[in-house]
Amino acid sequence: MKIAVLKEKLDGETRVAISPEVGKKLVNLGFEVSLERGAGNGSSFTDTAYKEAGVKIVNDPPNALKGAGVVLKVRGPDLAEISEIPRNTIVIANCNALSNLKYLEAMAKAGITAFAIELMPRITRAQSMDILSSQSNLAGYKAILDAAGELGRAFPMMMTAAGTVAPAKVFIMGVGVAGLQAIATAKRMGAIVTATDVRPATKEQVESLGGKFLEVDTDMEKEAQTEGGYAKEMPPEYFEKQKNVVSEHIKTQDVVLTTALIPGRVAPTLVTKKMVETMREGSVVVDLAVEAGGNCELSKANQVFRTGNGVTIIGHRNFPGRIAEDASNLFARNLLNFLSPHISSEKNELVIDWEDEIIKGTLVTKGGKVVNEMILGMIKSKRSEKKNTKKAKDKD
Ligand code: NAI
Repeated sequence: MKIAVLKEKLDGETRVAISPEVGKKLVNLGFEVSLERGAGNGSSFTDTAYKEAGVKIVNDPPNALKGAGVVLKVRGPDLAEISEIPRNTIVIANCNALSNLKYLEAMAKAGITAFAIELMPRITRAQSMDILSSQSNLAGYKAILDAAGELGRAFPMMMTAAGTVAPAKVFIMGVGVAGLQAIATAKRMGAIVTATDVRPATKEQVESLGGKFLEVDTDMEKEAQTEGGYAKEMPPEYFEKQKNVVSEHIKTQDVVLTTALIPGRVAPTLVTKKMVETMREGSVVVDLAVEAGGNCELSKANQVFRTGNGVTIIGHRNFPGRIAEDASNLFARNLLNFLSPHISSEKNELVIDWEDEIIKGTLVTKGGKVVNEMILGMIKSKRSEKKNTKKAKDKD
């Protein structure tokens, strides 16, 4: 079976779906692997390194796609790419499926069998396939380095002959995978770290990393976690309380790093313009949620700028892409781990167990239809939300 790896089209996407290491493993498993020329450049993987691994370098997508059974990408294909992918091809990528229904429908129409691997069930067996974890981990680390790069002060306390340098104060909002790595990184660099999250389980995690937890409302937080381990959307009263607690705290911080996400929803606003106005000249806000609408009212996608009161706001859309070599290495291993259980014993073929929990959880289009239960549920609830709003409007 032939596996095609395409160059990423999205502006600023430096990652690639397979590394030379994983390319070699797939070739050794009997697959023919075709990679679009230069696809690894943004991740420091040269065409020569791929060639040495046994990967075939081709000039353009049509050549890569010709006769391919599987297409691997970092980002789900856009409409132009979808139109080039032959029917019945399997596509495996981060399709951003909860927000990109239009693309899922286009893939279904084009007869593509698509796996949105960001929907990986959070079960032990799937941990090594979880791209959200591998990429968020690196994002949390890189975001702290970016903050340190902009801050005109040191992270650690330093006792020098000329006097003492005070340690930086770092506040992390949202303690998922990225937030935890950000805490660990900032602590290793010597900062004083505080953090907050709606999920009560995170208090212990913050403390175990040496951070201090900032509580908002423990009663409301009891109901804040879904069965899948994600945060639920919180009621407006919670946000009011959070605003009060956070606005006092933020005034004293050198770095505020936000990572709060609700799957399939716009990211909650946690840092308002007013709060930023109370921050000290020279302090830094890093918004990791900018791609989902942002946690800071002022952040702008792909921009780093200074506000009128001298606060630097960092809004890179793609933090993992800023550490692309490791991000691509881990992404590629996640893909290999996802494919491995479905490789036939004679090698070089995929025999997919369609009843497997991981396959069912990530499969989004098959046989010309959108098939994923979570997505179908989401479509249904969005439709009924729309209907209810229309009814309420009609009543008025
Ligand atoms: P995420 O990227 O969806 O969200 C980041 C964080 O923001 C979460 O901790 C969330 O609770 C928090 N948040 C959301 N709204 C907030 C608000 N209004 N105020 C403050 N914080 C808010 O989360 P991520 O990194 O995907 O982790 C979610 C859970 O999944 C965690 O419990 C994590 O440990 C777990 N997990 C499990 C895995 C497995 O078992 N295979 C793998 C990776 C993560």
